[in-house]
Amino acid sequence: MRLLLLCVFCFVNEVYSWRIFHNGRIIGGNLGEPKGDGLQTNLNNYERWFTQNLDHFNPVDERTWQQQALADLATFIEAMNSQYEMSVDVKWIAFGGSYPGSLAAWLRQKYPHLVHGSMSASGPLLAKLDFQDYFKVVSDDLRSHSDDCLSAVKQGSAQAEVLLRHMVGQRNLNKIFRLCDPIENSIENTLDISNLFETLAGNFAGVAQYNKDNRIGKSSKGANITIDILCDIMTNQTIGAQVRRLAAVNDLIMNAYDQKCLDYKYNTMINEMKNISWDSTVAEGDFFVQQCMDIFGPKYNMSFLNRAIERTNTLYGALDIEVSNVVFVHGTVDPWHALGITKTISQGAPAIYIKGE
Ligand SMILES: *[C@@H]1O[C@H](CO)[C@@H](O)[C@H](O)[C@H]1NC(C)=O
Ligand SMILES: *[C@@H]1O[C@H](CO)[C@@H](O)[C@H](O)[C@H]1NC(C)=O
Ligand SMILES: *[C@@H]1O[C@H](CO)[C@@H](O)[C@H](O)[C@H]1NC(C)=O
Ligand SMILES: *[C@@H]1O[C@H](CO)[C@@H](O)[C@H](O)[C@H]1NC(C)=O
Repeated sequence: MRLLLLCVFCFVNEVYSWRIFHNGRIIGGNLGEPKGDGLQTNLNNYERWFTQNLDHFNPVDERTWQQQALADLATFIEAMNSQYEMSVDVKWIAFGGSYPGSLAAWLRQKYPHLVHGSMSASGPLLAKLDFQDYFKVVSDDLRSHSDDCLSAVKQGSAQAEVLLRHMVGQRNLNKIFRLCDPIENSIENTLDISNLFETLAGNFAGVAQYNKDNRIGKSSKGANITIDILCDIMTNQTIGAQVRRLAAVNDLIMNAYDQKCLDYKYNTMINEMKNISWDSTVAEGDFFVQQCMDIFGPKYNMSFLNRAIERTNTLYGALDIEVSNVVFVHGTVDPWHALGITKTISQGAPAIYIKGE
């Protein structure tokens, strides 16, 4: 029996803040670019890579995106089987992490005759609007350093809100958080303000999601920044008030990712996120629904999203997914585990839940 590995990658954000981190993933994958020169006629070579862009970004297409992605992968497998005249004992194994982790499991579920098994890492199998448990896990992660760390983050954010209310405070915020545009011009713009706070929260979320992940890819530059390092700053009284410590965390992240100033402008973010070019760097509740509508069109409102979410959960079974030969892998520190399978529910589909630190 020969095994063929199908690796499903998802290239999303390159860096943290919405430019750097947007509850998303890092471009190039955590393992970096595949080496080798593509799937060629000699399949006996150990490592062969082939790039197939899954182009399911057409917002006017009524079909759900993942269904199109799975159909594309199935077509790819069939095409390769036929092009290379592979015998029936050649088995395909799908690998994926994050959204592609869900795709890998769903691919085995939907096309069991084509895919022998899957490794599904950090896959959010339950579709959910406004996934607030994400920040609950981030809070737990901070608390695992110390209660002081978590409360300093909360106090720092509260102090930033107070500073926003008057002019001297606003100028202070411009300076300590190195804002690209003066915040006083955005005081009436709730989307800009939400985006600023989301970005500051993103500094912690981004580090929590990738804490000590051993990444070796293109985006390894911030990889040595851990929860412990952020919490050591947040609990260091020498730096000053908690809002100063938040700014020190922000400085650390911005310097690591070569950001000159913090761009919190909602419109700039939306314009960049609308860019669906393969080379582009980006492919609370209403704030996120608003983003969907602004990026993909007014049709993507709350009721549309709720219908699509329900449909996804019906199609694949969410956390009650019935599937065999799939291994579900998650980490305790990664916020996405809250939407995934962390306990083995059936023998043919074991869960491995890795205790992070
Ligand atoms: C992380 O590594 C970079 C490059 O090696 C180094 O300049 C930086 O000081 C390190 N940061 C921390 C927090 O250790
Ligand atoms: C606290 O911050 C000060 C000023 O940045 C620094 O000199 C000191 O080493 C820090 N203390 C700890 C325990 O990290
Ligand atoms: C989208 O991003 C790519 C790559 O950064 C860039 O070349 C292109 O001009 C952008 N398109 C628009 C419409 O901004
Ligand atoms: C969403 O848009 C549809 C029309 O596309 C409309 O019928 C519906 O009431 C809207 N729902 C919300 C929550 O705005």
